[in-house]
Amino acid sequence: MSSEELPGTYTVSWTDMASGTQADYEMLTPAFEHHARAALVPNLLGMLDLLKGPTLGYQVDRYEHSLQSASRALRNDESVDLVVGALLHDVADGFAPENHSEAAAALLAPYVDEQTHWVIKHHGIFQGYYYFHHLGGDRDARSLYAESPHFDACVQFCAEYDQNCFDPSYTSLPIEEFRPLLDEVFSRPSRVPGVAPAREN
Ligand SMILES: [Fe+2]
Ligand SMILES: [Fe+2]
Repeated sequence: MSSEELPGTYTVSWTDMASGTQADYEMLTPAFEHHARAALVPNLLGMLDLLKGPTLGYQVDRYEHSLQSASRALRNDESVDLVVGALLHDVADGFAPENHSEAAAALLAPYVDEQTHWVIKHHGIFQGYYYFHHLGGDRDARSLYAESPHFDACVQFCAEYDQNCFDPSYTSLPIEEFRPLLDEVFSRPSRVPGVAPAREN
């Protein structure tokens, strides 16, 4: 991309998208994608920072919980996909409290393998095994997904990288340790349709 095409150096003449030309969109789309890719990891790290502070009755805050999750996964030689998934599995807590698992999975979907996406998407209901029954619910609600090829992986994720990650005596790795992993995962080509469809001609 030339400097003339970098975001902010070209402005369209119109105010409604219907007026845009092919030339406009051939400039706008890569400009956005370039900007979005460059901002992605810093934005995700900023979202993680939002988890700092309130412990909400636990012994660690949700930022430390996330670091513990990712640190345990990394130290257990899990895939880079799963380590990044562990780091970000609760990143949507602050803006999607009713469906934080699905929201985090949506952020990861273009970049991680299918199993990691499935595990993060369903970790909330699987994690319920540890407490739903204390609230009058069904701790085995996750049995709904018994036929999934990813069922055991999600059980393992919750057992080893979620329900046990509230320990103030655990020494987590610093966030800087995960930056290369984040850069690797979020620089991959998207696995899902992006901003623009493939050209048909
Ligand atoms: Fe969660
Ligand atoms: Fe969690």
